Amino acid sequence: MFIVVGVTGGIAAYKTAHLVRLLVLEGHDVHVIPTEDALRFVGLTTWEAISRHPVTTSVHEDVSEVRHVALGRKADLVIVAPATANTLASMTAGLANDLLGTTLLATNAPVVVAPAMHTEMWRHPATVANIETLRSRGVVVVGPADGPLTGGDSGPGRMSEPEQIAASALAVVTSGGDLAGLTVTISTGGTREPIDPVRYLGNRSSGRQGAEVALAAAARGAHVRLVAAHVDEGVLAAASIHPRIEISRAGTAAELGTAVRNASADADVVVMVAAVADYRVAEVADHKLSKEDGQLQTLQLVENDDILAGLVQARRDGQTIVGFGAETATDAAELLDRARRKRRRKGVDLLAVNEVGWGKGFEASENRILVVDARDEVTAEASGTKRDVADALWDSVLAVRGTAKA
Ligand SMILES: Cc1cc2nc3c(=O)[nH]c(=O)nc-3n(C[C@H](O)[C@H](O)[C@H](O)COP(=O)(O)O)c2cc1C
Repeated sequence: MFIVVGVTGGIAAYKTAHLVRLLVLEGHDVHVIPTEDALRFVGLTTWEAISRHPVTTSVHEDVSEVRHVALGRKADLVIVAPATANTLASMTAGLANDLLGTTLLATNAPVVVAPAMHTEMWRHPATVANIETLRSRGVVVVGPADGPLTGGDSGPGRMSEPEQIAASALAVVTSGGDLAGLTVTISTGGTREPIDPVRYLGNRSSGRQGAEVALAAAARGAHVRLVAAHVDEGVLAAASIHPRIEISRAGTAAELGTAVRNASADADVVVMVAAVADYRVAEVADHKLSKEDGQLQTLQLVENDDILAGLVQARRDGQTIVGFGAETATDAAELLDRARRKRRRKGVDLLAVNEVGWGKGFEASENRILVVDARDEVTAEASGTKRDVADALWDSVLAVRGTAKA
């Protein structure tokens, strides 16, 4: 395999020498592209010797070979290790001011980054946002690990070990991700039940968590059908340009039910993240109801169909159905109890609950979930960005699918 390894300016560059060596020993044709700063940490001679190829940082060398696009075009895989905060920002912005930048823009190959930096830099909102954007474009992020850092401190930010980076990166190319081959249907957002041409009954769901569940699945190789009810502005931006995500829209609970049922018939996994109205207005007025006429004081409501229960009834062989519940609870034990009861009531394979409340869950970018399975056991307890939570949910889905097959 033709592998490009980008090296950027962090102490962990010395570990990348071992990564390059591992890849070369496995028989891969490895081309190293360091940044100028990377060469302050490990020199050109080392990279040339271990990769057995000439190495340069510049777009102005070997101009006749059009080197600034040639390596990217030839690559089957690009790994950036360590990926500094600076390079992650450059990649997000699409900067092309050196050979690594141009190569990253010129390639269609999968890109894997192994970030390394101090914990504060890793947790900075700028870095968090850059990572999210890169992930939404299909970049695979390996690590960082939690452990001792260069300054004597410790925390998340340490570059993953070369063996792990090599294994994860090669898995991306060979298997296309651990959800490759699966079709998954995901609903997101909040439904809106019309009262009259102007008003509706709705909820505070922003659609962010469901969008992240979709992006995580697509990044892990799944083909994704995302059924979106009302979502906040910008929430679907990344999903709408992802080649493996199809988006369809729904307004009311009934429309969402139809769209999800259609998209689920041949799906391997269905995840209902959308916040669906339990009730709708019995008779939707065709004119704006007036306060003066006292038409708004009492609304007659009728119950909506339970979409999840319908999906469970129509479940095809081998299909995994995941429910998502937003609950308010006074403590962890109550939340777990609610999750277990809801899972049994709905008959789903997995039920994820997140605790919501004023200022909790809905519009936030961070979330915390608890996932229970059909044996009433907790299969995941995750907190962090909505993307972290989404990945934990997919790990649980893979775990129950593995158990079901065994
Ligand atoms: C000793 C030393 C260690 C550094 N380690 C890191 C690091 O681990 N991660 C990081 O993001 N930046 C680190 N930096 C800062 C980067 O070298 C700096 O941001 C540089 O501009 C990165 O350039 P590049 O991304 O083009 O390689 C370090 C700097 C020094 C002097």
